[in-house]
Amino acid sequence: MSHFVVEGGQRLHGTLTVQGAKNSVLPILAATLLAGDTCRIRHCPHLRDVETAREILHHLGCKTRWDGQDLIVDTTTMDCWEVPDDLMRKMRSSVIFLGAILSRCGRAEMSYPGGCELGPRPIDLHLSALRTLGADIEDAGGSLHCCGEKLQGAEILLSIPSVGATENAILAACGAQGTTTISNAAREPEIVDLQHFLQAMGADIHGAGTSGITVHGGKPLHGCDHLLMGDRIVAATYLAATGASGGDVLLRGVPYRHVSTVTTALREAGCQIDCTEDTVRIRSDGQLQGVSPIRTSPYPGFPTDAQAVLMAALLRSTGTTVFVENMFESRYRHVPELQRMGADVRLEGRVAVVCGVERLHGAPVSAADLRGGAALVVAALHAEGTTRVSQTHHIARGYADLVGDLRSLGAEIREENT
Ligand code: EPZ
Repeated sequence: MSHFVVEGGQRLHGTLTVQGAKNSVLPILAATLLAGDTCRIRHCPHLRDVETAREILHHLGCKTRWDGQDLIVDTTTMDCWEVPDDLMRKMRSSVIFLGAILSRCGRAEMSYPGGCELGPRPIDLHLSALRTLGADIEDAGGSLHCCGEKLQGAEILLSIPSVGATENAILAACGAQGTTTISNAAREPEIVDLQHFLQAMGADIHGAGTSGITVHGGKPLHGCDHLLMGDRIVAATYLAATGASGGDVLLRGVPYRHVSTVTTALREAGCQIDCTEDTVRIRSDGQLQGVSPIRTSPYPGFPTDAQAVLMAALLRSTGTTVFVENMFESRYRHVPELQRMGADVRLEGRVAVVCGVERLHGAPVSAADLRGGAALVVAALHAEGTTRVSQTHHIARGYADLVGDLRSLGAEIREENT
């Protein structure tokens, strides 16, 4: 197992191009199944979750290979429609393959994706959307047995703008005969990126980024060459790190509007933020103020995935900040670890109250999930002394090179293997 060792107190300076987006590449890798051809995904991040998705594609009979920063995926030889339990357990968002497998093969089998560190992760909206398109889904004994030889376009209404359910509905609709409309669709930028990918494959889809998406299904699809969007949550992480540590950092590759709720909070906290179309520059003296209540919500609201890293940045702020986590039941698992570093954070259900303290001190801490783990690193960067972050495999799921990126900005951080 590896761990990170961080010496706090360094200000951050420099320019960084942000990695490709994890939550865009995962549904796009599922979408490659619809091509039955070869696709090139440029600026693809080397992540544990991408490797898990590759394992699933290989299990389904497809071929993938790295070509530098590009991932080449050939789904011509797909010959299987079942995702085994061990792969489903490695990444619960593998359920995103369900709609694409059904679309391509007319049937799909996978074990029921369990909950994860964030709490229950229901998929009722995914299944309801696929059933609306005519799929017959038996949910028995922890497995999903899906049949849908002739999916028909339909009107889908999502009761929650679920990202994954929107993506599964889109991918199944591409294989359905006729027109599908998805109402109350999620509006995340990653869904717009998926639409761009599908359009490059020849799909007739529009409306992504709004709450109404239309797919004219049944078109013959082909391979394509796609440049992945930048990862807005990784960008938010580095903005939070610079705000807390102090410094002057320019991030490239993420449109400022993808991180505008985070930059708004950091501006209120006292940072200077300057944006162009796809760069964000942050300057900070490292002395932040508490900000107005942060309530997580679906895009374009404040992203739940940035809650932990912003909290970590505000731990030494003057004043108090209230966080309300509306998206997941168990998304404060980083708080006890931050308290070990001297943070004053009080939890009451979905509410976390951060009372700024004079100083944080280094401590041995353990990552419990992806974004909570990144938050421990952000806190360590502006703590006094040495922090050892263990269980860093959680962080590797979503950050291609957190240590390398932060070192390039002047942080004193290294990875050690035990
Ligand atoms: C995606 O998860 C992201 N993952 C998550 O990022 C992100 O936190 C989340 O969207 C919200 O933005 C990927 O894209 C791979 P949802 P997803 O369906 O699709 C409830 C990270 O750190 N719900 O939009 O699973 C659900 O319980 C990860 O990168 C149902 O009730 O999220 C939650 O409360 C963590 N029934 C809410 O909707 C369903 O069928 C939003 O979940 C589906 C969801």
